[in-house]
Amino acid sequence: MHISERESELPESDMAKLIKIAAENNSVISLGAGEPDFPAPPAIVAYTKKIAGKCSHYSPPEGRRDLREAIAKKMRKENGIRCSPENIIVTSGSQEALLLAAASALDVSEQVIIPSPSFLGYVPMFELLNASPVCTSLDVNFEPDTDDIRKRITSKTEAILINTPSNPTGAVYSRKTLEQIAEIAVEHDLYVFSDEAYEKIVYEGKHVSIGSLNGMQEHVATFQTFSKSYAMCGYRLGYVIAPPKMAAAMKKVHIYSTISAPTISQMLGVKALSQSAYTRKMVKEYDRRRRFIVARLNEMGLPTKMPKGAFYTFSDITAFAKESRSFALSLLKKKKVAVVPGIEFGPGGEGYIRCSYATAYEKIEKAMDSMEDFLKK
Ligand SMILES: Cc1ncc(COP(=O)(O)O)c(C=O)c1O
Repeated sequence: MHISERESELPESDMAKLIKIAAENNSVISLGAGEPDFPAPPAIVAYTKKIAGKCSHYSPPEGRRDLREAIAKKMRKENGIRCSPENIIVTSGSQEALLLAAASALDVSEQVIIPSPSFLGYVPMFELLNASPVCTSLDVNFEPDTDDIRKRITSKTEAILINTPSNPTGAVYSRKTLEQIAEIAVEHDLYVFSDEAYEKIVYEGKHVSIGSLNGMQEHVATFQTFSKSYAMCGYRLGYVIAPPKMAAAMKKVHIYSTISAPTISQMLGVKALSQSAYTRKMVKEYDRRRRFIVARLNEMGLPTKMPKGAFYTFSDITAFAKESRSFALSLLKKKKVAVVPGIEFGPGGEGYIRCSYATAYEKIEKAMDSMEDFLKK
């Protein structure tokens, strides 16, 4: 008996380790969190109690009809994506939706182009399915370098993955960049996997869904989630909007992965879609923290662009250290501040650290004082 090679090749996440240390040690301030520090909206908490006895049954694998109808309406109105409930699969978080898309669209050793740096869940997830992630670099604004994407395309390329607003960089892709990516997808007949987990956390510019651009309906799978927009990470509720053939394939795979997303979360999801005032309240507070943390990081000598979306800063540490991992570990050991080393997000992230400002303002203040001390030594 043995553990599969596939599993043993999955990376041990430094981030998971850092967050575990921070959680076990009250004296550590963690800027490592990848989730809102707010609770779920009060209306959701109250409704959870109310419906607790009414959700003991499976839902259809594609998700409850009422939720898919509500999502289709939202997508048409807010994202400009023409779709119907038949295009939608409801999943246990958007991470599961990505897995279903990868299993449905990619055969063994087929390639998906992903930005580097990017969310650390992508590469291992594709590798788990024996597909091949291929890294593409970012431009000076942390947007995908479309010339580099073109260079990476081979006969094995099936998809391009994009993430706007971006984790870990906070970039919000411009319409121009998205149009260029759309052009490449059409020219080479590729899927675009558009991860829009942070679509509602935008401070500057406007979030554009690539699926709303002309001619993209047959190419794009759009991934969204209740985790960040409504502070509902633990409810594990996400969804994907995909062309009909791909949606049908994902529905089939879903039956063999989790059967269906939790019924209680789906019932809550319908209600959550009307909680935009709560989202706005969170975004206002993130914005206040964003301005503060970016100013402090730059003042202490860590060049940091103003993020336009999500809740992360991505700072250049090369004036102080070559390796982000040793920088983060030393900061944790000496000053009890946890940040995520940029290398966790792919080779393009080396030389950077990610700080999450989904953390109380006062904690960020203390963490910044400690980091400044750390850099002076
Ligand atoms: C960019 C991005 N995509 C997807 C996810 C997965 O989120 P969930 O499965 O909770 O929807 C995360 C989580 O941090 C993320 O940062």
